[in-house]
Order: sequence, then C-alpha cells, then structure tokens
Amino acid sequence: MNLEAPRPYASLDYTPAVARATAPIHARVRSVIPDLEWPVFAPYIAAINELKRQRNAVVLAHNYQTPEIFHGVADFVGDSLALAQQGAKTDAQVIVLAGVHFMAETAKILSPEKTVLIPDLLAGCSLAASITAADVRLLRQRYPGVPVVTYVNTSAAVKAESDVCCTSANAVAVVESLGVDRVIFLPDEYLGKYVASQTDVQIILWKGHCEVHERFSGAELRAYRQAQGGDVQILAHPECAPEVLAEADFVGSTAAMSRWVGEQRPRRVVMITECSMSDNVAVDYPDVEFVRPCNLCPHMKRITLPKILRSLETMETKVEVEPEVAGRARRAVERMLAVGRREGQ
Ligand code: 13P
Ligand code: SF4
Repeated sequence: MNLEAPRPYASLDYTPAVARATAPIHARVRSVIPDLEWPVFAPYIAAINELKRQRNAVVLAHNYQTPEIFHGVADFVGDSLALAQQGAKTDAQVIVLAGVHFMAETAKILSPEKTVLIPDLLAGCSLAASITAADVRLLRQRYPGVPVVTYVNTSAAVKAESDVCCTSANAVAVVESLGVDRVIFLPDEYLGKYVASQTDVQIILWKGHCEVHERFSGAELRAYRQAQGGDVQILAHPECAPEVLAEADFVGSTAAMSRWVGEQRPRRVVMITECSMSDNVAVDYPDVEFVRPCNLCPHMKRITLPKILRSLETMETKVEVEPEVAGRARRAVERMLAVGRREGQ
C-alpha cells in the first residue's frame, strides 16, 4: 500500500468533472439532499471514492449515517450485525468504519491483520460507556456459572469477559442458543427486557441505556398515531423502553425495520429511532410517506465526509485492540456470528 499517495483530485471545488462523476449518486439522493447542498458534498464524495481505490479501502457505514455518507461513499451499509459480518469477510486491506467506536473495534477484532480506521475517535456510545470489564467480573462472582451475553455495543475489554455477543438482530436467538434457564444480559436494560418478553430464559439485567432511544415515550407514540388518524405504521428499535415498544406495530433492528418497509410498503410509516434512518430508507421507497419525528445520535453524527476524507489521506485514526483482549473478545463475537440473524429481526 502506498502511504504517500498523492491527492487524486486537484481541489475540493464543484467542477463539471465532479458533477459528472457524482451525477448518478445525486439523482438517487435528490429526495433527501436538497440540490443547494449537493455542490458542498459532491467534491468530497468524488475525492473519497477515488482515494478508496488507491488505498484498497472500503467504507462500512451504519444505517444511522447521513445520506451523503450512506448513499455517497459507503461500500457496505447495514445494522451492527451486517457490519460485523462484512468486516469479517471483506478482502480490502483498509476498513473505514463510518459508525461508532465499538463497531470499528469489532471490525478490528475480526480482522486483526487489516487497518481499521475511525474518522473520529470520539464517536462513542452511551451503552458502551455504561459498563466496564471489572463490572462483568463482579457480576460473574455474584452469579457463578451463569453465562454472560453481551450486546456488541460494548468495548473489546467487556466483550473479552463475555461468553457470547449479540446484536438487536439476534439477541433472542443467541440467548436461546445457550440452552440454559438463566443468563446475564449486558448492558442494555431495555433490549434485555425485550428479550425477556420473547423467551422463557430468565434474564439478569444491567441498567445501561441508549441515550437516543430512551428519549422516546409511549405517550409520544400515541400522539403520532392520533395525529395521523390511526393511518400510520409504527416501527421501533428494541433499545426503546417497554412502554414504547408496547405501542409499536413492529419491533426490530435497523436492518429489520428497513426490510419491513420494503416488504410491507405501508402508506405511511414512522421509525422510532435515529434521524438518518428514515432518510436512508426513504431513498428506495418514494411510494411510502415517512413521518419523521426522531432523535439524533451525537456520536454517529461526529462522522462527516471531510473527516472520512482526512482519515483516508492520513490513515488515521487506526483502531488497535491489545492482542490478548482481542483474542478473548473474538471468541465471543465469532460465537455470535455462528448463530447468525433471526428471521424478521
Ligand atoms: P442495530 O443497527 O444493530 O439495530 O443497532 C442500533 C444502534 O443503536 C447501533 O448503535
Ligand atoms: Fe449508542 Fe444509541 Fe448512538 Fe447507537 S444510537 S451508537 S446505541 S448512543
């Protein structure tokens, strides 16, 4: 790999060549990116896509990334599970993770020989910040012999103390795959309660919350339904509180919500999750009306086109995981990947 690669573009101006190179992407995202903003994004999109080729790099983007990233420069998009699966199988030498830190760490755990870059090291997660490896060791002392199932929204050190990881797409399947009657489920209390509502396995909870999804309330959802005269389908992420999920027509991971819209084609839908989700899905379904109350994830929004470009130019910031920790964390993640995705989640 050539670390001294020259800039493949003369400037970041919106030239006729840039307009031509990005025209198909522009046509695709016109419904969610105003024409006025395109000349700002297009030069970055053209430069990033060229630099990716030079670096043998791929951009993996989570469903909560803004549309100019999601539709403009991502090679693979999806929920946490899809990004982990893709990170494990890509042939590219360099992975730029357009998402938050735990996602980049998971990619590095699965591909230690690859360079994994995160465009902003401060892109964290309130769930990952809610628990430490020492907390998990104390829980094991308190509940000897009870297996620990850990949401991927955690640090590598926490994964390393766990028996198996899960995402919102396979949490129930992972818990049931263990064949036990009790598990410790970390760290999302609400996802844990949702899992408990779907299985006979007893769930020991931790009190971590997603700062985005915990802000929705049941009363808010009832108000949205009333405002639309009942003519709206409500999809909610399982990181929401039980009183919110009780008001929803469908509960699933970000990928499951997007698949549900594609299959059901409701007249009107509201996605109870992060704001960029509706924009990204709406691009593919102009026949569906998206009502868009939402909450922003400040961590996901740290990732921008200029930061992705800079990351590819400087090959920073590299995500590293101490090999001994990575080895133990990999076992928990690979055990999850063997379970796969539960249909509909
Ligand atoms: P999924 O995309 O796996 O549903 O996760 C949502 C989320 O909040 C990730 O940070
Ligand atoms: Fe973490 Fe919630 Fe943001 Fe996802 S949306 S990264 S769970 S804070």
